[in-house]
Parts: sequence; C-alpha cells; structure tokens
Amino acid sequence: YRIAVFASGQGSNFQALVESSRAGKLGSTEIVLLVCDKPQAPVVERARQAGVDTFLFTPKGYARREDYEAEIVAELEKHQVDLIVLAGYMRLLTSVLVEPYAGKMINIHPSLLPAFPGKDAIGQAWEYGVKVTGVTVHLVDGGMDTGTVVAQEAVPLLPDDDIQTLEDRIHQAEKRLYPQVVSWFASGRVIVEGRKVTVRQ
Ligand code: GRF
Repeated sequence: YRIAVFASGQGSNFQALVESSRAGKLGSTEIVLLVCDKPQAPVVERARQAGVDTFLFTPKGYARREDYEAEIVAELEKHQVDLIVLAGYMRLLTSVLVEPYAGKMINIHPSLLPAFPGKDAIGQAWEYGVKVTGVTVHLVDGGMDTGTVVAQEAVPLLPDDDIQTLEDRIHQAEKRLYPQVVSWFASGRVIVEGRKVTVRQ
C-alpha cells in the first residue's frame, strides 16, 4: 500500500508516519513520495534523511494551480500511490487532484471540525476559550477543512494549560490518530459512500 505525504513545513507528522510505517505499525505500507511546495521547508531534509523521493515545486513558477497539480498527478501515478496524506500542506486543491483521488486523500486538522477551520486553529480555540478541542482527520475536497470527517480525538483543556502546553498535547494526539487512520485505510477498513464514512471493525 503506497502512500504520498504532502507537506509545507516542519514535517513532524511526516516523520511520525515514516517511523510508524517502518516499524510495521501501518500494516504493509510504504511512504513512497513527499510532495512539497516549499523547497526550503524542514520536511524536505527529513525526506532526504529517510530516503523518501520528493517532488518539490514553487507555485509562483506556474500560471495556474491546475498546472502544477497536473505535474503532481503524473508523479503520483509514476509512484503508483494508493493514498494521499496531507500533513500541514498549506494549499487548497483543485479538481485536478481532488477528482482522481476522491476518497483516497485525507488531511489532519488541529481542532474538532467544523469548529475553527483554517489557519492557526489552536490559537483560535485558545482565544475562544473552549474547554475541549482536539484533532480531526477528514477526507479532502476543494474547500478549506470541509471534507467528510473520518476520525476525531478530543483534547480537553487542563486548568494549568497555556497555549504551548495545549499545542503540545494536540500535536501528541495527531501523532496517535494519524497513523491509526492511515492503518485503517491500508487494511481496507474505511468505506466511503458519498458523505458517509464508516470504519469496519
Ligand atoms: C499540524 O498541526 C497539522 O494538524 C496542521 O499542520 C501542522 C503540521 O505540522 N494541518 P507538521 O509539519 O506535521 O509538523
């Protein structure tokens, strides 16, 4: 089962997925490709260290999103990718990617969607003063954090939290939930029917 990760930044989720996969915790999976729109991002060095192929591009070099996405699709086909895992990929997608990979592309977002979509979800939740927030894995459509929810993990606020301790616990939850959801996909347990997603036991 061949996986591509799309990322734009630090790549701590990329790293967690590579390590879980190599430790055999994701069933028989391999992370075969990193797609990154920021050639200088730390995630690129992580991919090099891990020996994962990269497709790096600079969006400014293209007239339209569709143009670089067509190149990404070609790269995904070349690597025979079964699942696309977005992990801090900071771009919206067009139908060039969304249509061929409908139901085979997931994203992780650091809030309990539909609360706090978009950038700085943890800061938004902190400012709002919620008592529970968390992490969501959802299918990707063309919107901003709008696809069908696959799984969520709640993260309660603790009395002594500051935004940093909250952020740390959310990132820990991401590293539990994302590999788990990827393993469900890899073992064929996720059934997608329109806007309904069920996970078979
Ligand atoms: C994560 O918090 C993820 O939920 C969000 O972007 C962040 C990526 O972090 N979509 P990293 O690059 O995986 O360290």
